[in-house]
Amino acid sequence: MKVLVATEKPFAAVAVDGIRKVIEDAGYELELLEKYTSKQELLDAVATADGLIIRSDVVDQEVLDAAKQLKVVVRAGAGYDNVDLKAATEHGVCVENTPGQNSNAVAELVFGMAVMAARNMYNGTSGSELKDKRLGIHAFGQVGRNVARIAKGFGMEVSALDPYCPDEVIVEAGVKPIHDIKDLYKQNKIVSLHIPATPETRGSVGYELITLMPKGGILVNTARKEVIDEADLAKALEDRQDLKYVADIKPDNAEELKARFGERVFFTPKKMGAQTSEANINAGIAAAHQVVAFLRDGVNRFQVNK
Ligand code: 3PG
Repeated sequence: MKVLVATEKPFAAVAVDGIRKVIEDAGYELELLEKYTSKQELLDAVATADGLIIRSDVVDQEVLDAAKQLKVVVRAGAGYDNVDLKAATEHGVCVENTPGQNSNAVAELVFGMAVMAARNMYNGTSGSELKDKRLGIHAFGQVGRNVARIAKGFGMEVSALDPYCPDEVIVEAGVKPIHDIKDLYKQNKIVSLHIPATPETRGSVGYELITLMPKGGILVNTARKEVIDEADLAKALEDRQDLKYVADIKPDNAEELKARFGERVFFTPKKMGAQTSEANINAGIAAAHQVVAFLRDGVNRFQVNK
């Protein structure tokens, strides 16, 4: 049996070595497709794969049609909006993610970007500190919880909104639960987004919420560009010259925003949140173990298309 690792944005070499060991120790063959530049390369490689490990690589109907032998796809990471779950289910393919494995890496980047924005992108002018500032965490999943932990070290006041997470979990983390989304944006100088991209959340952070932020507000997005209404974001930045937007993935209107708002916006050139060797090792090797467990024993603990 063959396991394909298809990563347009490759894992660190040390993580690939670890993945190879897990796959080969189980008696399977590993094929590596890194930095591919055309979908055809993926279609060709997936044709003979029994298992597939990906990152943000798109696995749609066409890929699944080409993957005649495929039984399991493991997204080495948290968000699986890049996989067509319905098509996978129709093809009898199990889809899994590796929750929590890269969340510290993403959470650390939140602070990298928040400090940069608070210090005016290091442009030599006087900025501000995070200490004693209010931080609002929009969704208290694995990344949100790590953000809360780190925020305490900065001496921030932390609150979180998450209708899917019981208040007790939020309180136990020393964080104030918020139930009205407007309060989250109104009360916090820094808001950090950790909602997944779903039909419910796409475009859900728009003009009304963004302009509720207090003076000097910083919106940090290490989640997905799709959760922001980009036209609304531009209008909010126009009407509120004090606001900043920093994001770990370029919005579609990035060039327009950079031209209009200069140092008040920042975008990483590629999604960098999970791009650490530690996160690659954690998520990549977890994915390898999950593929083997599924192919060998039918274990589907992390299946997301049940
Ligand atoms: C995730 O959903 O796990 C993160 O967004 C990381 O994505 P990446 O593996 O493409 O860097």
